[in-house]
Amino acid sequence: MKKTLLGLLLTLASATQAQQKLTAFEPGKVWPDDKGTHLNAHGAGVLYDKGRYYLFGEHKIAGPRGNSAQVGVHCYSSTDLYNWKDEGIALTVAPEGSGSEIEKGSVIERPKVVFNKKTGKYVMWFHLELKGKGYSAARTAVAVSDKATGPYAYMRSYRPGAGQWPLGFKEEWKQPAPNEANLKWWTPEWRKAVTEGLFVRRDLQPGQMARDMTVFVDDDGKAYNIHSSEENLTLHVAELTDDYQGFTGRWNTIAPAGHNEAPALCKRNGKYYLITSGCTGWAPNAARSFVSSSIWGPWQQLGNPATGPDADSTYHSQSTYILPVAGKKNAFIFMADRWTPKNPIEGGYIWLPLSFEGDQPRLQWADRWNLGVFDQPKKAAVAQ
Ligand code: DGJ
Repeated sequence: MKKTLLGLLLTLASATQAQQKLTAFEPGKVWPDDKGTHLNAHGAGVLYDKGRYYLFGEHKIAGPRGNSAQVGVHCYSSTDLYNWKDEGIALTVAPEGSGSEIEKGSVIERPKVVFNKKTGKYVMWFHLELKGKGYSAARTAVAVSDKATGPYAYMRSYRPGAGQWPLGFKEEWKQPAPNEANLKWWTPEWRKAVTEGLFVRRDLQPGQMARDMTVFVDDDGKAYNIHSSEENLTLHVAELTDDYQGFTGRWNTIAPAGHNEAPALCKRNGKYYLITSGCTGWAPNAARSFVSSSIWGPWQQLGNPATGPDADSTYHSQSTYILPVAGKKNAFIFMADRWTPKNPIEGGYIWLPLSFEGDQPRLQWADRWNLGVFDQPKKAAVAQ
């Protein structure tokens, strides 16, 4: 059969496209979207909704201003987790000078989107810092949309837990101990004071600080915002209202004085697993892990989940999310960022299969791997 020139070109084009279809993850490499551009979704989270995955992350720009919010939250969608379609900006920053909390130049980090079955709305939470105030505002903020891809309408920001003591907070901790404000940081006495509510008391009225964060929806539909609080010394878990747009006031601390950020959470066989990092700014450090049989704790600290070369820097990355693979039991992908603060747009993505040895979450480096590893859990994570 004779082909026209146009027909030939189209065949060629689709052949090239087919060749470009990704069939594996290559952690740390450039990850092209459907237009061939490196994904721009840092500090990301993933929503699985009606057969599609939606990736939401910080849109970074080149150069020194690139870590502040200049554009907004970028969304991509995928059916196979390797190939991502650019869905554009889901939450757009407000114009500079508008006075909006999310104006251009504010800090919008670690967006996480969840779907609320009761309202039919998509709810995006993120860490918000107000323009020109460094990281002192320490707020968590919420935006809502009728569609997964947005546009998301900005609602408001919170210091969670205002006026509410955490669960199990002892009566005698409600009053400051003499001289506690003068304790030297990092001493055993100071650590004890932090564990007994030094910063919780300080921030009771304004509400607790909320920086690096994630959102987790449990099997019973209840959702939680887990964030670094108390000057990044202690993680807090705070229950969201039924519509996921506010806080119920029930909250608790995790690992007081443990100095954790970058929380990522999953549930496996009824237990909750948390992976975090230490606090070294944009520089990577060794990940930590925790397990609990209740979201409210007590949390037991486990070891560094990373193994092998570069485990002490989590393979030069920092956790952002644990993605349950749809349709596969106990299949989780650890998602992390390789930050490049001098030119944030270049930041890389480290996605690795998360396995378990008993209760201990485990990570192992792979240059290239695919979802087949979850069907043969004991085999090496090598892609075809
Ligand atoms: C590391 C955090 O995990 C990031 O989300 C960001 O807040 C930077 N620190 C800021 O230094």
